[in-house]
Amino acid sequence: MTDKATLTIGDKNYDLPILKGSTGPDVLDVRKLYADSDHFTFDPGFTSTASCESKITYIDGDAGILLHRGYPIDQLAEKSSFLEVCHLLLNGELPTAEEFTKFERNITYHTMLHAQFDSFFQGFRRDAHPMAVMTGAVGALSAFYADSLNVDDPKQREISAHRLIAKMPTIAARAFQYSQGRPFVTPRNELSYSENFLRMCFSVPAEDWVPNPVLTRAMDRIFILHADHEQNASTSTVRLAGSSGAHPFACIAAGIACLWGPSHGGANQEALEMLEEIGSVENIPAYVQGVKDRKYKLMGFGHRVYKNFDPRAKVMQKTCYEVLEQLGVNDPLLKVAMELEKVALSDQYFIDRKLYPNIDFYSGITLRAMGFPKEMFTVLFALARTVGWISQWKEMFEDPSRKIGRPRQLYTGATQRDYVTVEKRG
Ligand code: SDX
Repeated sequence: MTDKATLTIGDKNYDLPILKGSTGPDVLDVRKLYADSDHFTFDPGFTSTASCESKITYIDGDAGILLHRGYPIDQLAEKSSFLEVCHLLLNGELPTAEEFTKFERNITYHTMLHAQFDSFFQGFRRDAHPMAVMTGAVGALSAFYADSLNVDDPKQREISAHRLIAKMPTIAARAFQYSQGRPFVTPRNELSYSENFLRMCFSVPAEDWVPNPVLTRAMDRIFILHADHEQNASTSTVRLAGSSGAHPFACIAAGIACLWGPSHGGANQEALEMLEEIGSVENIPAYVQGVKDRKYKLMGFGHRVYKNFDPRAKVMQKTCYEVLEQLGVNDPLLKVAMELEKVALSDQYFIDRKLYPNIDFYSGITLRAMGFPKEMFTVLFALARTVGWISQWKEMFEDPSRKIGRPRQLYTGATQRDYVTVEKRG
C-alpha cells in the first residue's frame, strides 16, 4: 500500500505522506501543503483533523472503545483507583507498589492551599456559579505558586502537575462550601484522595465526619471515568494555550472555562435540568418531539466521536444503580432517564444520527444522590479532567516538534478598500 496520497490541483500534483499510528485511522500529513500549493485545508470544528500525535488516550467511536495508555476504561473503573490512573496518564505506565506510594505521597502533601488563598473566595458572591469560582481560583494559583512556573524546568513542570492534581479537590470543595455558607475544611493526609474530597465537601464542625465506603468508591470511579478523553474541546484548549509557553495553571484555567460550555462538560448539569423539565415518563413523547422539531437538543446524548454507546456511560449507569440502591434513594428521574433512553434508542431520528447516551446522561442523577447540587456537576468533571489536561499539556510541551498553534482561515470579508470620511458615508 502506498505511503502517500496525491492531491491534484489544476495541472499540479502534490504528494501528502500518509502517517500510521499504532491503531486507529491513518493521517494525511498536510504540514507542507500551504508552502507547496498556496492552499489551506478547511475543517471548522476539526471533524476530520488530527491536531497532534499522542500516546495517552485512544477512542474508537464506532466500536465504543476507550483506552488509557492501552487499558480499557471499564477495567480501570472496576480494578484501579483514580490516583493510580493519574500516574498512568501522567507517566505512561501503571505504578509499581513503590512508585504508587511515592506518587500518592507527592499528591497528598500538596493538597493544602496557601492560607491567603482562602480569602480569594471571599471576593465572590455566595450565589456565584461554582464554575465561575473554579475558573478564577485556578487561574489565580500562579499568583501563589510562582516557584513552579518555569515550564522549561522538568522538575517545576512535575511540581505544577502534582500541585494541580492535589489542589483541585481542595479548591472544588471550597467552591462548594462557600456556595453553601459553610466553613472551609482542611484536607487530612491520612485519607485517600476521594475520601479527602468528600470530607472537605460534606463534613461540618458540629460533628465527626464518617466516611461512606460506597460513596468513596463511587466518587473515585466517577473521577476515573472523567479523567481524560483524547483531543476534546477543553483538552485542545489546554494544548493551544500551552503551545504559547503559558504556564500550566493558566492553561488549566482555560480548559475549565471551555469545559463549562453546555455542549461539553456543562451538559451534565443541563442533562439533569432536562430530566427535571420532563418531570415524568408521560411527558417524554412530547419532549422527544420537541427535539425532532429542533427546538432543543437531548442533553447527555450524542457525541462527536462515539457513534455507538459511550463506554463510560455504561459504567456510569451501573454506578448510578449501585449508588441509588445502596443509599436507598428512589429518584423518579432515574425512571424518566431510563425510559427516555429506551425511547430515543428506538426512534429513527436518533438512530439515523447515531445518537447514544454519553457520560453526562447518568452522571447527574448519581451525583445528586451523593448530595451534590447540579451546579457542582461540571466542577467535579473539571476536578477529574485536570489530570488529563495536565498529562496532555506535558506531552505537548515535551514534544520536540512543538510549535505555537496558529490556524489560518478562509477569508470571505471585504477585500481592500480606501478609507471614506464620514461626510461621504451612508
Ligand atoms: C462531552 O469530545 C469529547 O470527548 C467530549 C467529552 C469528554 O469526555 O471530553 O466526551 C464530554 O462533552 C460529552 C458531550 C456532552 N454534550 C451533550 O450531551 C450536549 C448534547 N450533545 C450535542 O450537543 C452534540 O451531540 C455534541 C456537541 C456532543 C456533538 O455534536 P457534533 O458532533 O458537532 O454533531 P452535530 O451537531 O453535527 O450533530 C449531528 C446531527 C445534527 O442533526 P442534523 O443537522 O444532521 O439533522 O445530530 C444532531 C444534530 O442536530 N444532534 C442532536 C444531538 N446531538 C447531535 N440532536 C438532538 N440531540 C442531541 N443531543
